Amino acid sequence: MIPSYTLASGHEMPAMGLGTGTIGKDHRVAAIRTALELGYPLVDTADSYNNHDQVAEGMKGFDRESIFISSKVPADKCHYDDVIATCEKNLGELQTDYIDMYLIHSPAWEIPLEETFAGLAEVVKRGWVRSVGVSNFGEELLAASCDAAAANGLPLSNNQLEVHPLLYDWELLDFCAERNVLVTAYGPLAVGRVFENETLVQIAAECGRDVSQVTLRWLLHKGTVPIPASKSPEHLAGNLQVFEFELTADQIERIDAIDEWVRVYAGKTWKLRKQRTPREER
Ligand SMILES: NC(=O)c1ccc[n+]([C@@H]2O[C@H](COP(=O)([O-])OP(=O)(O)OC[C@H]3O[C@@H](n4cnc5c(N)ncnc54)[C@H](OP(=O)(O)O)[C@@H]3O)[C@@H](O)[C@H]2O)c1
Repeated sequence: MIPSYTLASGHEMPAMGLGTGTIGKDHRVAAIRTALELGYPLVDTADSYNNHDQVAEGMKGFDRESIFISSKVPADKCHYDDVIATCEKNLGELQTDYIDMYLIHSPAWEIPLEETFAGLAEVVKRGWVRSVGVSNFGEELLAASCDAAAANGLPLSNNQLEVHPLLYDWELLDFCAERNVLVTAYGPLAVGRVFENETLVQIAAECGRDVSQVTLRWLLHKGTVPIPASKSPEHLAGNLQVFEFELTADQIERIDAIDEWVRVYAGKTWKLRKQRTPREER
């Protein structure tokens, strides 16, 4: 049984899920079906992935209530009417009545946040969406989003960010935690780069686990929701075994101390932290 978090919205969000944005088109439906059969409780998608129809295909035959769907409205669809129209289109593509988590995919600097959150409040009011959040938002924009959401009577529940041991932005994670915003960790394996890290290789050997499991376990210890993508049934199964073991405090500290700043996904306008703040300044 995968544990879950209670969101600011009051809804539950599973502690781990499947990312579908980067699974190749020919493998997506099979990977989603395999993941759901294995017990993955969460599927992450987005309007811009153009894969909602395949997510719907992969979910066929599974109990909708047992799956948490996270999707995203693109930055260029953040005007009030566009949010509503995109959400309605996404529901049709996903062949569902509701989306569990609907995120602003990335900052839409030129569109007032109040307007976007008014659109999100409307889709929540219509029962199309259960919880709302953002993605790729740094501290300043997250604080403004919490205010804009509150002004529309909405709690902001989630910030989906690139997080892994080679990009440990502890300041932003702390900032989210202080505001009761759960962080989803995308690119949790740094799209494969974690496998070359010596500290992770060493700790994996100590635990009798693989680097992927150690990385995902560390992300769980940090209170994030990792959403690794995989087309491989073996990897999908192995990644889910992360709930079967713990890291020691010493191992967690050694991973915290990895002195790297590898941002695989670097949106030019996201204004996220450019370098690591030394831990002693914490
Ligand atoms: N919000 C955003 O802006 C944003 C941006 C990027 C991504 N995302 C979301 O995050 C999801 C995951 O990100 P990602 O795919 O870029 O990065 P990732 O999950 O860190 O890496 C995926 C890669 O790791 C491999 N892999 C997975 N498990 C493995 C294992 N146990 N052993 C060895 N290799 C393993 C996969 O290959 P195999 O298929 O061979 O297993 C795949 O090549 C995306 O699909 C998407 O849903 C969101």
